Amino acid sequence: MTSKQNKRIALLTGGGDAPGLNGILEAASLTLLRKGYDLVGIQDGFEGVFEGRHIKITEERVRGMHAEAGTLLGTSNKAGTKGREEEFLEKFKKLEVDGLIVAGGDGTFAGLSAFKKDIPIIGVPKTIDNDLSGTDITFGYDTAVSVVAEAVDSLRATAHAHKRVIVVETMGRTAGWIALGGGLASFAEVILLPEMPFSKTKLIEFIKEKQKTHRGIIVVVSEGAHAAGEDAVIAHMVIGSPQEERYGGIGERTARWIEKETGWESRHVVLGHLQRAKSPTATDRFLTLGMGVTAARLAMAQKWFQAVVYRNGVIQAAPIEDVMGPARLVNSDHRWVDFARELGSFI
Ligand code: F6P
Repeated sequence: MTSKQNKRIALLTGGGDAPGLNGILEAASLTLLRKGYDLVGIQDGFEGVFEGRHIKITEERVRGMHAEAGTLLGTSNKAGTKGREEEFLEKFKKLEVDGLIVAGGDGTFAGLSAFKKDIPIIGVPKTIDNDLSGTDITFGYDTAVSVVAEAVDSLRATAHAHKRVIVVETMGRTAGWIALGGGLASFAEVILLPEMPFSKTKLIEFIKEKQKTHRGIIVVVSEGAHAAGEDAVIAHMVIGSPQEERYGGIGERTARWIEKETGWESRHVVLGHLQRAKSPTATDRFLTLGMGVTAARLAMAQKWFQAVVYRNGVIQAAPIEDVMGPARLVNSDHRWVDFARELGSFI
């Protein structure tokens, strides 16, 4: 395809960062470097293609990066390729690579879908929200859930000390996986998910009952959650981003409302970007190691337009379209929701 001597593969990370991105880069790079490939690291997602910014990936650059949050290549969730497809393709071709390994979310894959014939890609689905279709789990999710669980465990102490309700707002956009996983792992008394609009009357009844016997309780609320008949709270918009709404504010609103309705002093904590900022858990490291090696193998075998997914406990390849479907949301009859009910939590 090109005049160069060695085969050349580009790597790119796109969308919001997720713990484990560096693990994907390290595992894929080490696998390919050992086989004599030259590697180009595109900086800051699509921006690096448009602006011609990239670095040479060497073993020294990637070795040990799996333990770091963030991404050594940088990323961006602000702009896609829409309306600039021709320019993108022209600039990408200048890289003279045989293919691209890309770790990204729905916005990143949507941005690349226009180049199906021209840019051979291997996709690794990424989001802490865990809501991509076609895969049972995304890397970064386990770390985000651990942040929520640890925070709730700590906050329980101060809630009890002061006899308060503490409302913990998690990320997740329109999907409740982080709130559900984090709320379960910390045995939260209340878990509110976007997929299951809650009854205000029933929630207040539940909290009033707890008030009789508990010094303090924890409410875990997903940023996209809302009461029945109400809308999710949008904090602000990022114009031009593949998903422009940024959710936030339900935690504070819920704390004020609970205090007003029950008289039980309430506070709120927004965990925000802390959920994306921690060193990956061992589970996420193991997942990204396997996914990175698998992505490299697919690239070496030139099995393009595949995604590396996790299904039924096995890391495997699937058509890239599989991870581009609608968001995978929490069903109200999901077994985890049942666990919460069995524990006596409000969900
Ligand atoms: O999709 C990942 C995510 O962290 C969401 O959970 C959150 O709503 C959003 O990104 C925040 O985006 P930003 O980093 O632009 O504030």
